[in-house]
Amino acid sequence: MHKLPHVITLNQENQLMKIFILYGTETGNSELFAEDVQAALKDQHEVTLVDMQNATLDMLSPENDLTIIIISTYGEGEYPTNAQAFVKIIQDKQPDLHGCRIAFFGLGDTFYTGHYNVCVKTLQKLLTGLGAEQIGPCGLHDASSGQMIDELMQPWLDAVFSDLKKQ
Ligand SMILES: Cc1cc2nc3c(=O)[nH]c(=O)nc-3n(C[C@H](O)[C@H](O)[C@H](O)COP(=O)(O)O)c2cc1C
Repeated sequence: MHKLPHVITLNQENQLMKIFILYGTETGNSELFAEDVQAALKDQHEVTLVDMQNATLDMLSPENDLTIIIISTYGEGEYPTNAQAFVKIIQDKQPDLHGCRIAFFGLGDTFYTGHYNVCVKTLQKLLTGLGAEQIGPCGLHDASSGQMIDELMQPWLDAVFSDLKKQ
């Protein structure tokens, strides 16, 4: 059982924070991790978990307190299948993302030299280039590290929420 993060529970209007977690996955690891993040936050926030296949641009709206993007890299630096259409919509429509707060976490493997976690890094550049504000450090999991992904969750969430609190 994960310890809940000691984080702010209300936004500036004293309401529960509205958080979207979008995941892009090929073999399910990002989905499982996204479910763990949701479980860690759901008692304190209004959290919606979304398969990127079903994601819409309003999930990147400034009206949400936070959007969390959790995505793996597949093929040789390819976006997971369920994320490709949404990424293309963003690339084509180039929405103005000023005011939108996004935290990023990537799943990859250093075995794929030259392509390690490129999707989360490319998406981070794309979205911040459109005006989004990155919240916290980009979390990275390396499947070759032998580290359990769950061990990375709490420190990363703590850093994200501590950054959000400064806003
Ligand atoms: C066929 C295959 C190709 C992969 N290609 C890459 C890659 O190009 N870059 C990378 O960082 N990781 C790569 N990985 C590692 C995955 O990103 C890693 O296993 C991740 O945990 C998978 O998450 P997912 O189940 O959410 O898709 C690859 C894994 C497989 C099996």
